[in-house]
Amino acid sequence: MNKLATLILGGILMFGVTMSNAAETAQSIVIYFSHTGENYSVGVIQEGNTAKVAKEIARQTGAAIWELKEAEPYPVKYNDCIDRAKKELQSKARPAFQGEAPDLADYDTIYLGYPNWWGDAPMVVYTFLEKAKIDSKTILPFCTHEGSGLGSTARNLARAFPKAKFNQDGLAIYGHVAQKDADAVKSAVEGWLKKLGKRK
Ligand SMILES: Cc1cc2nc3c(=O)[nH]c(=O)nc-3n(C[C@H](O)[C@H](O)[C@H](O)COP(=O)(O)O)c2cc1C
Repeated sequence: MNKLATLILGGILMFGVTMSNAAETAQSIVIYFSHTGENYSVGVIQEGNTAKVAKEIARQTGAAIWELKEAEPYPVKYNDCIDRAKKELQSKARPAFQGEAPDLADYDTIYLGYPNWWGDAPMVVYTFLEKAKIDSKTILPFCTHEGSGLGSTARNLARAFPKAKFNQDGLAIYGHVAQKDADAVKSAVEGWLKKLGKRK
């Protein structure tokens, strides 16, 4: 093979590899909401419990990641935060979120993370899902909690968004474990992804 042919073939091969990697990682995105400040069981935290799980999922899958943030910050003080969250739940509020939602056209799978708040997902998660185009997307919920697990969060979401495919076998991790035990998070995420057929 002459030099030119070798160069062209090499280029084609390299392009192919880059494209196939991009295709693998472009299909999934981790979208999560997580609250910092005074926490139920781990004191004042700089990085939320759910954020830690979200980052581990993105690390293991190579998925893109986007943090959903409320426009008007939830209170730092735990009791104030639970009061506001309860009012929002009772009134089915749709608090605004910051910035632009990612364009989901390139993704078919969304790993959706949130803390269990009063047995449901925080209302800002609903705000986001109502704006995002999630019809026919596969949604894999995960949450952190302090005893209630996923509760009815995945069922509530599935009922609210019947055109999306909400997996009911979500991942639930104790918040204090997520905050303090990176190894436990790593193996819980590994086990969950295996069960979902997302890794060998
Ligand atoms: C407003 C609010 C409501 C909560 N409600 C519940 C609940 O119903 N059940 C539960 O197990 N934990 C509940 N928790 C605890 C959180 O789910 C837990 O601390 C979680 O790990 C917080 O995640 P984050 O740091 O990502 O926000 C609540 C916490 C807050 C702030």
